[in-house]
Amino acid sequence: MKPSAIYQFPRGFLWGTATSSHQVEGNNSNNNWSAWEQTPGKILNGDRSGLACDWWGGRWREDFDRAKESGQNAHRLSIEWSRIQPSPDRWDEEALDHYRQMIRGLVERGMTPLVTLHHFTDPLWVTEMGGWENGKTPELFEVYARRVVEALKEYVTLWITINEPNVLATMGYVIGDFPPGTPDMSLAFQVMANLARGHARAYHAIHEVKPEARVGIAVNYRGFQPKRSWWPFDRLVAWYSHRLFNEFFPQAFITGELKYIFRKVSLPQAKGTQDFLGLNYYTDELVAFDITKASEGFAARSFPPDADLSPTGFIANLPDAFFTSLKWARKLQMPIIITENGVEDQSDEMRPRYLANHIHQLWQAVNFSYGVKGYFHWSLVDNFEWDRGWSQRFGLWGLDVDTQTRQRRKSVDFYEAICKANGLSTEMVSEYAPEAFDSIFPT
Ligand code: FCB
Repeated sequence: MKPSAIYQFPRGFLWGTATSSHQVEGNNSNNNWSAWEQTPGKILNGDRSGLACDWWGGRWREDFDRAKESGQNAHRLSIEWSRIQPSPDRWDEEALDHYRQMIRGLVERGMTPLVTLHHFTDPLWVTEMGGWENGKTPELFEVYARRVVEALKEYVTLWITINEPNVLATMGYVIGDFPPGTPDMSLAFQVMANLARGHARAYHAIHEVKPEARVGIAVNYRGFQPKRSWWPFDRLVAWYSHRLFNEFFPQAFITGELKYIFRKVSLPQAKGTQDFLGLNYYTDELVAFDITKASEGFAARSFPPDADLSPTGFIANLPDAFFTSLKWARKLQMPIIITENGVEDQSDEMRPRYLANHIHQLWQAVNFSYGVKGYFHWSLVDNFEWDRGWSQRFGLWGLDVDTQTRQRRKSVDFYEAICKANGLSTEMVSEYAPEAFDSIFPT
C-alpha cells in the first residue's frame, strides 16, 4: 500500500514566484540590455524583449491576481534603474509611482513583496560611463537605491540589492554572452569588487532609511563536481570554480575581504552587510580540466551522462545538489530565502517532477532547521530569457508573446496545491508527478 503523508512547512513560510523588470515589463529602451538586443548576433534567433509580459502596460494586475488566486503569499520583482533615473540629472517620479502602485497591488492582495534593486540591467548613461568597471558606479547605485527605498519603504521590508553579481560578472566578463561581452579576468575582478562596493553602500543606505529592513544579495549557486574524481586537476577546477562562483560574494560580506586565490581587496564597509542569503539554485554540473579552455577557467563543463535534462539542455534535474547548496548556505549562519528555482519547459512535462523533487529537498532542509524562510519559483509567467530570448519558457503560466494570452500549465495547479497546503503531500505527488513518487515517499 502507498503511504499517505505530507511534508509540512512552518507557519508563515513564503511561497511565491520571482520576476525581473526587463524580463516582464516590456518597452524598456533605455538600458544596456535593450542596446544588446539590437546588436546582431547577441540574442538567440534575434529575439527582442519587446512588450515582454506587458507589465508596464498594466498586465501586472492580472498576473498578480493569478498569483494570489493560486495560493501564493509573496512575490519577488525588480525595479528598473533606467526608468527611475533615465539620465544622470533626471528622476522620473511617475515611474516611481508606477512601482508604488504595483507594490501596493501586492500588499493589497495580501502578498509579501521582495524587491530587487538591480537585476542585470544598467541605464544606458551608466553603461556609457563604463558600467560597473567604473569606480563611481557604486556611489551612483547608492543614490538610486536610497531614492527607491524612500519611495517604497512603507510597503517593503525585504530587499535584494544586486541579483547574481556572480552571474553578471561571469557572463559579462568571462564567458561574454551578456553585455558588455568582454572576456577579461582582470576586468571581471574589478567589476566584482565594484559590485561588492555597490551592495555595501546600498545595504547601509537601506538601513538608514528603514532600520528594520532585511537586506541581502541573491547568489546563483551552482555545484561543481569533478568529472573524474580521481584526477587532481578536475578536483582543482571544481574547487576554484566553487570558490569564485559561489563563495566569493557571500564570504566577502561576512569577512569584509574579497579574496580569490592570489588576489585580495579589503572592503571593511562590506563586513556584515547581509541580513539573509538569497539563494538561486537551478542545477549542478561536472567540470573537467581542459587546457584549451583558458578563457573559461580551464573548465570543460557537462551534465552527468544519465541526467534528467530540460528540453533545451540548460538544466539537469539534480535535487540532491539543491540540498547540498542549502547545506552550504546554512554554514553562512544567516536566514536563507530561495529567491529563484525552476526549469525551462514549454510542454510542462518535466516541471512538475522538478518541482516535486526540489520542494522535497527544501523540506529536508527546513526539517533540519536550516533557517529557510521562503521559496520563490522562477517564474510566474514565461518571460524574456536574456541571451536565450524567448526560446526558454520558465513560467508556471505560458505566454503567447504575440497575443499576450496566458496559458495555465498543469504546474500552476500543482504549485497552488503546495502553497495552499503549505506542504507537499503524497496525493499531490501521485497526481502531478507520479514518476517521482517512490523517491520522495519511499516505502
Ligand atoms: C537566473 C536569472 C533570472 C532568470 C533565470 C532563469 O540566472 O537571475 O533572471 O533568467 O536565471
